[in-house]
Order: sequence, then structure tokens, then C-alpha cells
Amino acid sequence: MNAGERRRILVTSALPYASGPIHLGHLLEHIQTDIWVRFQRLAGHECIYVCAEDAHGTATMLRASRNNATAEQLAEAARAEHSRDFAAFHVGHDNFHSTHSPENQHYSELIYERLLAKGYIFTAAVEQLYDTEAGLFLADRYVRGACPRCGVADQYGDNCESCGATYEATELIEPRSALSGTAPTLKSSDHYFFDLPQFTGFLRAWTRDGVQPEVANKLAEWLDQGLRPWDISRDGPYFGFQIPGQENKYFYVWMDAPIGYIASFRNYCDREGIDFDAFWRADSDCEVHHFIGKDIVNFHALFWPAVLTGADFRPPTRVHTHGFITVDGVKMSKSRGTFVTAAAYLEHLDPEHLRYYYATKLAPNTDDIDINLDDFAQRVNSDLVGKIVNIASRCAGFLHKGFDSTLASSLSDQALWQETAAARTSLAALYDAGDFARVTREVAALADKANQYINEHAPWKLAKEAGREAEVHGVCSLGINLFRILAIYLKPILPGFAERAEAFLNVAPFTWEDAAHPLAEHRIEKFKPLAQRIDRKAIDRMIEASKAPDGDDAAAPAEAPTISIEEFAKLDLRVARVAAAEAVAGADKLVRLTLDVGDHERQVFSGIKAAYDPAKLVGRQVVVVANLAPRKMRFGISEGMVLAAGPGDADIFLVAPDAGAAPGMEVR
Ligand code: 2FM
Ligand code: ZN
Repeated sequence: MNAGERRRILVTSALPYASGPIHLGHLLEHIQTDIWVRFQRLAGHECIYVCAEDAHGTATMLRASRNNATAEQLAEAARAEHSRDFAAFHVGHDNFHSTHSPENQHYSELIYERLLAKGYIFTAAVEQLYDTEAGLFLADRYVRGACPRCGVADQYGDNCESCGATYEATELIEPRSALSGTAPTLKSSDHYFFDLPQFTGFLRAWTRDGVQPEVANKLAEWLDQGLRPWDISRDGPYFGFQIPGQENKYFYVWMDAPIGYIASFRNYCDREGIDFDAFWRADSDCEVHHFIGKDIVNFHALFWPAVLTGADFRPPTRVHTHGFITVDGVKMSKSRGTFVTAAAYLEHLDPEHLRYYYATKLAPNTDDIDINLDDFAQRVNSDLVGKIVNIASRCAGFLHKGFDSTLASSLSDQALWQETAAARTSLAALYDAGDFARVTREVAALADKANQYINEHAPWKLAKEAGREAEVHGVCSLGINLFRILAIYLKPILPGFAERAEAFLNVAPFTWEDAAHPLAEHRIEKFKPLAQRIDRKAIDRMIEASKAPDGDDAAAPAEAPTISIEEFAKLDLRVARVAAAEAVAGADKLVRLTLDVGDHERQVFSGIKAAYDPAKLVGRQVVVVANLAPRKMRFGISEGMVLAAGPGDADIFLVAPDAGAAPGMEVR
């Protein structure tokens, strides 16, 4: 590579919140980023990868007080734990800093002051729900009440899980604080706003190249609808940085979190003697790439580029967005045991197996990614162990026995070698584009060809025939050379495996261009197994160990006040049989149920689609609140409510009467 082609790249993954553990979702993103980073380095570019703990916000503050710790202590403990978890999955952050750091305070204030000086900040009074008992303004996730659109009880302050409506927390019917259980009051306070609409023209241009095409389309819709100013302040008590010159006003966690990318990089530059400004000045020719999930696109592709530009920093080169994780087709769930933490995974399985499997699923789009547990075992066992490692294990023994572990001086099938080595150009382009799924498919196809070559020449047969030693030597030497190329190609995905392969081949750490030059007359080491198969039972044990009945206690609703027996008697609960069930088109969560309640049928909508296949519900018995006032929903009238337990989504369990109950029976 010419010196002139060497790119200077800074890369980040989203900063994990200090209030929870690292799980399969975080790992998807950090593994995706790490593969991209490792490829860039292998190809000879300068690529610095930083991350940090997202320390601030109400969640950290409340969790710390429940744990009798300070927010600082909790954030630091989480930082240490999270950074260890990522390292165990070979995620090689160059720096894992914290947003609660002097560097972040410095850049948050600097950016704010520049925005203020340039007229991009204004203040306005905002009315919010306030918990007088807890002494806090309530963020949306800490208020629950009935949906203002469909009336379903116990919904969060921002959207309804039953009908999908979005609204303001102040619109909830009979809101309750999830912290104290009391009814919040409305209170006004001055907030600071970043005047995002001033950046509409800039963002129209930036989003054209700064994101994937499907994301650009979504952003164009938002831009067409018109942007709104962004509230960047919160009232105390709040764990965060105080807004300069203001009493009891703090930067909203989402203001200082992305600045944490800059702060972590600054901390790294100071330690390593790197020129910070070369990467961040407005006319920088270095690259900045952010990897994120699709839930936080607005923060990274609207606010963040605008904030940076407004404060005379360069905007990102590109924001790479991925989809959500599902496990066996449904959202990760604690009660199903599919909310797997990094720590739980590591107790049962090999981190490189997850890296390989994720790579087989990752393409540069925002489609959701399903972890199918059978497919997971199958892919690793058949591709990695069955195809790739197999090449080396089939050839090494003959070289060891007959040829002093030394490779032949020439290649016995030039065309096959050429084809395998030439793939490095297209594979490099696929890595750079983030299409790791195709990388793994093409590497597996090259492995098939190598295995086919070995099958056709059957060294195990040749070895038994006199005078054919040179052929055995040639076939096995080429096999080892082909294996070496494939190990180079997989090195960004499987760094540990590549290191073991380097030791076995007795070579210096691979570079990408090594794939262009074969090893000849070179002595290798004795073969040792380079990758293990996945035991399907270990996956089951991991799932079993991850099953937890309790949800996120931070958001658990407060216990309801007691009611009298008379009040209870007002409920008409009945056994019903599901006569028909169908998913409601246009609603993410709803199933339309036709219920046989003994003497008639009625229609009830229920938010159970993530947990139940409608077809399998037909014939089941359920319990229905029969005298609930009918509610008009977007899709029709709902005449009653079906009882179910659990927090929602995939974690919802229908309450069912025991055998012997019949439609129409009263439940008491
Ligand atoms: O969504 C999240 O998990 C946030 N903690 C991500 C922050 S990314 C960045 F902006 F800091
Ligand atoms: Zn609703």
C-alpha cells in the first residue's frame, strides 16, 4: 500500500448505559464495529476505536440510591465491568472512558458555549409531571397511566403498548409516578433548547452521504415534516453536568453522551500523543465513523451532526445503523431466558462462536437480526470446524510424518491458489462496506473448493502408494496454504482463531496482503485443534440459566392501592373460548380475538402478538373482563379485555382457567 492511501479513521460504538448489564444486543454492535476496525487495521490503515460508559441520567441516579451507592461509584463499577465484558469478546476498544469525566465536562461546556454564542440556544418554559414526594420531574418511563387514545391502563408516558399511539406524558389518563405511586402534579420550569430547525439545510445535504440509503429515506421524511427544537436541559436533582452559569440545571444525558465520543478520544490522544485536532477540526481530512442501533438514529444523524457543525467541529463521515436482535424470532426476554448477558454467555460458550455467527448475519442494512439457536450451532460447527479447520487438520499430519513439517517449494495447483488469493480484493471491498455475511459465505465457498481438491487427490490413499511422496507433499502443502489464506480472511472476525493459526503456521501476525504470497519451504508447527464445536446442550444450559422471573426493577410499577370487596364485585370476569384469532394489520402488537362467552360471541383486541401465534390460540380458554365499557379503537370496537400476566411484548402470559371450566362461567 502506498503511504498516500493510508486512511486515518476514528470509530465508535454507542456508549452503553451504566444502569444495566451488557447483553447480546450490545455485543452485536460492538462485535460489528470491532470487525470493521480490525479489517481496516489489517489492511494497513490507522484506525482508532473508542467507547465510554454512558454514566449520566435519572436511571443511574435512582439505581445508585437503591444500591446505597453514589452515582459516581455505580458508573465507575459499571465502566469496569462493561469494559471487561467487551474485552472477553475480543472487542478491542483503544479506550473505554466515561462520560462522567473532566474531558467530557470540558467539551460539553465548550460546545454549549459556542452554540450559545452563535444564537443556536434559547430558553422556554416547559410544563412537566412532577413527583412531589420524590422531589423529581418524571421522565416518560417513570410515569404510567391509561392511554389517552385507547384507554388501556398502565402505559408508559410516551407511547401505548396496546394501540401504538405516541403522546405526551401530560396526556395520560390518571397518571401515577412509578417511583412513589402518587399522582404527579404539573409544574413549569425553564428549559434550554438547541435550535435544530436552523440546521435543516445542512442536514438535508449531510444525510445524503452520511448514512445508508434506507436511513437517508427515513431522515428525509422527518426533514420534510419539519424539525423541532431539542430540549437539552434537565432540572436537578440529576446526575450530570451543570449548565454553566445556571443553578440547578443540568445537561440532558443525550446532550453529553455523544460528546463522550470526543472526550474518550481526547483522553486517548493525551495518553498516546496523537493530534486531536487533526480528527475534529471543521476541515479535517480524517474520517469519523459511528456504529449505532436504529433506535438512536435521530440523535446521531440529526442532533449530533448539527451540534458538531454549529460548534465548529467536523460532522461524522458516516453513521452506520444496524437493526434489533431477536432470538428464535421474538424480542429478547428475561422469562424465556433469551435476555442473555455477556457474563452468562461466557459461562457456557466460546465468545468467538458468537462473533462468527453474528458475522454470518451482518449486512449493511437495518433489518432485524434473528439469532436462531439451532442455526447458531449449525453454522459454527459446519463452516468453521467442518470446513475451514478441517483443511488444516487433514493435511498437517502427513506433513508432520513424512516431510519434517516443511511445506513444498512450489504450488501443485496454481489456478486454485490464484483463485483463492485473488478473492482478497472483493473480500476487502465487502469488509469495508460492512457486508460480513457475504464475506463468511464467500470464505465458506472457498473452503469447499479447498476440501474438494483434497478429496479429489486423497493424500491418505497416495500415502499408501510407493513413489507418490512428492504428490502427497504437494497436495498437503497447498492445503495448508489455502487454509492460511482463509485464516487471514477471517482474522477480523476471529482474532483468537487467527492467532492460533499464526502459531500453528509459525508466522508473524498476518496482514491482509500476506494472502498474495504463498509459504514455501517453510516449517510449520504440530497441529493442535484450532476451534471447538458448539455443544447444543451448552446453549440450552445458557438459556436455562438466564431465565429470570423479575423484569427491570427500575421501571416496575408501584403496587396498586387496596380496593373493597364491593369494588371487586363490580368486575364481571368470565371464562371465554377463543373462536377465532388474527393479527391486526397495521398494529405491531394487536391480535383480534373472537371470543365465545357461552351465550354469544364478542370481539376483543389484545396486545399479545409478540408472544402468541394467533393460529395457535384458537380453541384455548381465557379469562375476559366482560363488563368493561366497549372501547373504540383504530381497528374496531373492543368489547372487554383478556387477562394476561407479565410486563408486555414477548413476556406476556394469558391467564387460563383449569380443565373443566366452560365458556360463560363466572370467575371469582
Ligand atoms: O441508547 C443507548 O444505549 C445510549 N446509552 C447510547 C448513547 S450513544 C452516544 F450518543 F453516546
Ligand atoms: Zn393505546
